[in-house]
Amino acid sequence: MQRKYDFLVIGTGIAGMSYALKVAHQGSVAIISKDGIEESNTRYAQGGIASVMYPPDDYDQHVRDTLIAGDGLCNREVVEMVVGEAPSQIQTLMDWGVDFDRKEDGTYDLGREGGHTHYRVLHHKDNTGEEIQNKLVRKVRKHPNIDILERHFAVDLITQHHLGREVQKSHKDIECYGVYGFNLDTSEVITLLSKVTVVATGGIGNLYETTTNPEIATGDGIAMVYRAKGVIENMEFVQFHPTALYEPGVRPAFLMTEALRGYGALLRTTDGREFMENYDERGCLAPRDIVARAIDNEMKKRGDDFVYLDCTHLEADGLRQHFPNIYRKCLTLNIDITKDYIPVSPAAHYSCGGIQVDRDGCSSIHRLYAIGEASCTGLHGANRLASNSLMEAVVYADRAARHSLSRIPHLGFKEGIPDWDYSGTTYPEEMVMITQNFKEVHQIMSNYVGIVRSDLRLERARKRLEIIYEETEELYERSTLSQKLCELRNLINVGDLVIQMAQAMHESRGLHYTLDYPNKGKTSEF
Ligand code: FAD
Ligand code: SIN
Repeated sequence: MQRKYDFLVIGTGIAGMSYALKVAHQGSVAIISKDGIEESNTRYAQGGIASVMYPPDDYDQHVRDTLIAGDGLCNREVVEMVVGEAPSQIQTLMDWGVDFDRKEDGTYDLGREGGHTHYRVLHHKDNTGEEIQNKLVRKVRKHPNIDILERHFAVDLITQHHLGREVQKSHKDIECYGVYGFNLDTSEVITLLSKVTVVATGGIGNLYETTTNPEIATGDGIAMVYRAKGVIENMEFVQFHPTALYEPGVRPAFLMTEALRGYGALLRTTDGREFMENYDERGCLAPRDIVARAIDNEMKKRGDDFVYLDCTHLEADGLRQHFPNIYRKCLTLNIDITKDYIPVSPAAHYSCGGIQVDRDGCSSIHRLYAIGEASCTGLHGANRLASNSLMEAVVYADRAARHSLSRIPHLGFKEGIPDWDYSGTTYPEEMVMITQNFKEVHQIMSNYVGIVRSDLRLERARKRLEIIYEETEELYERSTLSQKLCELRNLINVGDLVIQMAQAMHESRGLHYTLDYPNKGKTSEF
């Protein structure tokens, strides 16, 4: 079966839905999600969205904080552009109904997180993402030009390769004509043809054993673009959030927002000692790479599985009022955050790398845009500043929307695209192999490609992943499609990219730290 849309958007997080709402007045839109429309990383965002709001804060200081966090690898022009455009794009979110907390005097109640020199994080209690997701879903559902395809899994981008032409990375003329979408309820694969396609598939957290990301974050978009021979970059910079609630075996790990530290919470070792001042003069509010590494080091030195986050000195009513979800969640574990220390440890959280795009969100493949966490814009460099990703998503959704609206009158649908080839395949009887390979990928990535790396660990990871890659490709070739098998395949592709790019780094910078090259190279700006 074939369906045709002017705009095809893969992903129903903040990036995909913002884009869809901005183009839908000018054509037909399909927005697809492999889960229900409500599920995404966006939904779980806690701290908020960064934006310069009031003096004494200004754009220069937000730009500077972003550059410092990015450890010399940000694209300064992109940083200036995004920081400058953020307030008006966030205003659009508010116009769509998103509600951010205000103080009694009517001004916004701004939070602060690691690496920010000012209070500049707009938030809705401690569940900002849920507020954004709900309001966008409501608006998307109401739009007459938007078709929502839930439980449709994007398997592969359609390019000239599907017309029988050889496609190579060096080719400058690769074009995207749509995507093969796997209906998870009927097991039918639909050929979704489009004039432009937008990858807004989010992050890669499920590469690792412990992650704050929900199950959907399996790097599908990045893997699809990689297989279609598009350019991917900066994948070595995987951000670990320093403070996920320590609950072994629980996926996703529940986040203890950095805004708690912005509110005054402190980190302590299990014997109650503060330690962050030994690592950085900014203490608990140093950028994330530094705090996560410090915690990792303290845990390894002491043989502990966690450190403590201490809120007990903070005023109890204010704490409960600002962080009601965290308060409630911890109570279910008999932790009263106003009285008890909270056990926390780092967890894979955010991918700074992704599909390389220009300032309009255009990827290296024609007619293909990438926005949100799946993309690499140059904003984050080697380490993302907290709460800059929701901001980046709305700015790039807008830029990509404006660019594609100007292109759409000149584009048509590609003729002659074949439907999905189901022949010669059998059901994957070996589900146990898939489950086991998932576990092995988690272990390999967590043990060898985590917060601290080395040449030996990376090479071991590469070799182990290669074996799993071959087994999985072989299984994929002879099996009918299944969501888990596709996700495993994608995670292996993405893990391989992280390892390859980490192996090419002969220095430590931002989120990439290796014992063999502990110092920063000479190109550093800061
Ligand atoms: P997502 O919101 O992840 O959406 C991806 C969408 O793509 C989903 O709908 C998914 O189902 C769909 N999808 C994926 N693969 C496929 C496929 N193969 N086929 C079809 N559909 C597919 N950032 C901040 O700026 N501030 C914060 O306070 C903050 N807090 C966070 C807290 C947590 C716990 C987490 C996990 C992240 C947080 N982040 C925060 C990061 C931020 O939430 C994400 O970077 C951002 O929401 C990503 O938005 P997105 O639209 O790019 O992707
Ligand atoms: C948090 O609330 O700590 C997460 C913020 C982010 O990832 O930007």
